[in-house]
Amino acid sequence: MKETNIIPVNLGEDSYNIHIGMNVLDQAGTILNATGAYTSAVVLTHPKLVQLYAEPVRTSLERVGIRTAIRTTPSGERYKTLRTMEKIYDQLLSLGVDRKSLLITVGGGVIGDMGGFASAIWMRGIAFAQVPTTLLAQVDASVGGKTGVDLPKGKNLVGAFHQPRAVLIDPRTLGTLPARELRSGLAEMLKHGIICDKDYFRSLIFDTPRLLARDSDRLIPAIKRSCEIKADVVSRDEREKGLRAVLNYGHTIGHAIEALTGYKRYRHGEAVAIGMVTESIISEEMHLTGNETTEEIIRSVQRSRLPWEFPRDLSIDEVLNATKRDKKQSGGKLTMALLEGVGSVRMVPDTPEAAVLSALKRHIDLGANG
Ligand SMILES: NC(=O)c1ccc[n+]([C@@H]2O[C@H](COP(=O)([O-])OP(=O)(O)OC[C@H]3O[C@@H](n4cnc5c(N)ncnc54)[C@H](O)[C@@H]3O)[C@@H](O)[C@H]2O)c1
Repeated sequence: MKETNIIPVNLGEDSYNIHIGMNVLDQAGTILNATGAYTSAVVLTHPKLVQLYAEPVRTSLERVGIRTAIRTTPSGERYKTLRTMEKIYDQLLSLGVDRKSLLITVGGGVIGDMGGFASAIWMRGIAFAQVPTTLLAQVDASVGGKTGVDLPKGKNLVGAFHQPRAVLIDPRTLGTLPARELRSGLAEMLKHGIICDKDYFRSLIFDTPRLLARDSDRLIPAIKRSCEIKADVVSRDEREKGLRAVLNYGHTIGHAIEALTGYKRYRHGEAVAIGMVTESIISEEMHLTGNETTEEIIRSVQRSRLPWEFPRDLSIDEVLNATKRDKKQSGGKLTMALLEGVGSVRMVPDTPEAAVLSALKRHIDLGANG
């Protein structure tokens, strides 16, 4: 599939397009030039991505007459902090970035979230664009305008909604992505299928070997479908007043696992994969779905070579407490996205603690007996 696919994200005057295609990086200048009149641009990336992906973006922007600088921050979640933001602001200041400048992030969800947040508050908001280079960022983090940084006490606690002017997804960037990062992105794609598109979910299972082998004929349509699903949900509920929370399926437990293992043991998608299994069992406990759904989800996770067993060294009480601390919960009540079967999800306000407790125990036992 050689042509560029365009997926609109409809948000009134904040609407924008997601462009997906091989070598779309080299078209960055033309695509971004059409989204506004910019005095200059700054590309924010990680050192190892400068030559590979930031330079082609810069060359393309300069070709259409936009003066462009590249600046870097170190890789890794531990740098997604207010401290790094301060350094970014020093860089923007020394470059003379003004209200008519464009900030472009080239990298995974960390640089996308942080660069997006930097652009949301620099001079009370400047334009930005995302060039996601991890599969997780391409199918999830780059779409929807959630930006922010972590505090020592929790992930993404400080942030803003700030929509990009465009998202440019070039699957060629996945060629250098470590296999583990690729699988982490696949977990979010499985989630998209599980919550609202059974056929897509089944096609992902069928295609798993080719997706893991980075076959662009399979990757591009799958990335496109995931972006369509996310764009559709975000268009209907930009600020997560209701519907958007269905995207949190697998995340209530997933976030608890990440927090309790110090954000070190699992990649985000790995924790979500485990969380999707637990939350499917919670759906069973609530009599919303049957055991065959959980079995199908476990098989899809195994086929993707993602972890599915619940970490046995975590205390169930601590997991339960961590879910209550999750910033998405309000008033101490646990609202969860639960399944009614593969392809159908619903929000369940006030999910009983007993159902979560029982599901956690069952999940641990499944691992022990599996
Ligand atoms: N805003 C949202 O809606 C949203 C949604 C989901 C996740 N997130 C955030 O995304 C972050 C996780 O993102 P991630 O999984 O992309 O991790 P990441 O940004 O840390 O990237 C993972 C690693 O891959 C490297 N990398 C990136 N692209 C590469 C490439 N093409 N080749 C080689 N190496 C490459 C990075 O330097 C990094 O070391 C978390 O902070 C999470 O909170 C945000």
